[in-house]
Amino acid sequence: MKIKAFLFDLDGVIVDTAIFHYQAWKKMANGLGFDIDEEFNETLKGISRMDSLNAILKHGNLEISEEQKLELAAQKNADYLELVNTMTPANILPGVSSFLAEARESGVKIALGSASKNSNLILEKIGVKPLFDAIIDGNQVSKSKPDPEVFVKGAQSLGFENESCIVFEDAFAGVEAAKAANMKAVGIGSSKVLFNADIVINSFEGHSVSEFLNL
Ligand code: BG6
Ligand code: MG
Repeated sequence: MKIKAFLFDLDGVIVDTAIFHYQAWKKMANGLGFDIDEEFNETLKGISRMDSLNAILKHGNLEISEEQKLELAAQKNADYLELVNTMTPANILPGVSSFLAEARESGVKIALGSASKNSNLILEKIGVKPLFDAIIDGNQVSKSKPDPEVFVKGAQSLGFENESCIVFEDAFAGVEAAKAANMKAVGIGSSKVLFNADIVINSFEGHSVSEFLNL
């Protein structure tokens, strides 16, 4: 089927906020008396804030009340936003701006499919919000990736069938979500993690839109 739309994950695909999430969660875990490493952090990518918190608490063998969980999540988000607020267009990952511009010129529609509730702020900070035809994020979905909800809603809001969309993802769970929606998946990062993607690239740098239209 002809490709009509690109659905982009945000954190780790358009901008390197994945590292900010990691730093803020690590700070929280350390405050609770344990640590998280990069390997464990891979399992958090693409997962909603509260699901991430629950996974981290399980990792540290901690059981706390729902009220304490909300407090920890709010503090983590405040620490995260402090890092996000330092961002400028210079933080857009290499090759992304020209790739988005080329997609628009080629008539391919662009949507965001992110688990984050902070996506509007981030897109504004880095100045790419006007390039998106639709934004679906953690404020519109109830099920975390690997559930396909976020991408299915993205395709729906553009008015296209799932099969005519390509998803760009840095997370194992995100690639699973794309596949569950019958979409093609381009992995951004390591093929050791993203082995279920149709193709894996290191970054957008040096890649053109036409390469993906026949996936
Ligand atoms: C995803 C990130 O994009 O958004 C996760 O990969 C993050 O690490 C999730 O937990 C939720 O983000 P936020 O900004 O709503 O806490
Ligand atoms: Mg991501």
